Amino acid sequence: MRDLTNRLVLGTMYFGTRTDEATSRVLLDRFVEGGGRTLDTADCYSFWTSESGAGGQSEAVVGAWLADHPGLRTDLEIASKVGMEPREPGAPDSPPQGLGARVVERSCARSLERLGVDSMDVYWVHGEDRSVDLAEVVTTLGGLVDEGVVGSLGISNHPTWRVERARALAHALGTEPFTALQLSTSYLRPRPGVAVPGKDHRFGFVVDETWDYLAEHPEMELWVYSPLLLGAYDRSDRPLPEAYDHPGTTRRLEVLDAVAREVGARRGQVVLAWMLHRGPQVRPIVGASSVEQLDEALAAARIDLSPEQVARLDAAC
Ligand SMILES: NC(=O)c1ccc[n+]([C@@H]2O[C@H](COP(=O)([O-])OP(=O)(O)OC[C@H]3O[C@@H](n4cnc5c(N)ncnc54)[C@H](OP(=O)(O)O)[C@@H]3O)[C@@H](O)[C@H]2O)c1
Repeated sequence: MRDLTNRLVLGTMYFGTRTDEATSRVLLDRFVEGGGRTLDTADCYSFWTSESGAGGQSEAVVGAWLADHPGLRTDLEIASKVGMEPREPGAPDSPPQGLGARVVERSCARSLERLGVDSMDVYWVHGEDRSVDLAEVVTTLGGLVDEGVVGSLGISNHPTWRVERARALAHALGTEPFTALQLSTSYLRPRPGVAVPGKDHRFGFVVDETWDYLAEHPEMELWVYSPLLLGAYDRSDRPLPEAYDHPGTTRRLEVLDAVAREVGARRGQVVLAWMLHRGPQVRPIVGASSVEQLDEALAAARIDLSPEQVARLDAAC
């Protein structure tokens, strides 16, 4: 049986806020028991749902859980992010802290403290900060790798040209390059140029150029956020955003339904399985607030789609 569970990433964005600590711990236990090993968090999760307007609850819950399972640390891949925590927590429209050297170094130290670890495996820049010279960002992040507090570097919500420029700078400066992208995509595609509510990063979506870039750079991974469109594939209470209202959606849903029937799975599970079948570079980050949702994601990683089913899913547009 095909089992790609170790490529699934558990998104912990609402752990400690919308998802209470007890439930979060159950989900973490279940994910690890089910064969999962990678956790995604951020210093800013999730400031928009916290009373104080500051983030950190997700890292704190993961850290408390890790402290109770000290033997697990070496088996796990832990990723956090920097850059999007508000400069003034609670203030409406506060700008994000960004990627200045002092912010990054301080935030990294706080993330490690909250997680209760000496180092994390992947450290992401969460969004763009064009007020800081890219060479400074690259040098600061590379310094964290040199110090041994960060294993590898990822870059989220940046256009491909800035990713490439950052990697070229890292090579020129002899420092660690970014080796992972974090962007949003799913099986259904929004109409070009139409805003998707809640997706505010201008360059937050996978585009055709992203796939071309990955094909030319097999050393890079793509971690996909919001792959389930917040559950809209399987839930009548979660309508698809208006941006998905076009004939391509109808055609893709028809094929998705057909394949789902053939393999005896739900739509969202086929979406995850299809994504995992794209190859070892692609890793969906799934959010879950209940054991049932998590179990569905874990089971999806074991669905063996045939090449013909993948080709049919790919072809619908
Ligand atoms: N880099 C970035 O800028 C960025 C942005 C967003 C997210 N992320 C990362 O990506 C992770 C996932 O993001 P996301 O929460 O937007 O992704 P998602 O996987 O598309 O949505 C997760 C939500 O979908 C619903 N759901 C999940 N499984 C379901 C199922 N089997 N049946 C019905 N509903 C189901 C749940 O909603 P309910 O909980 O409401 O039931 C769940 O919380 C985050 O935790 C975070 O780590 C990164």
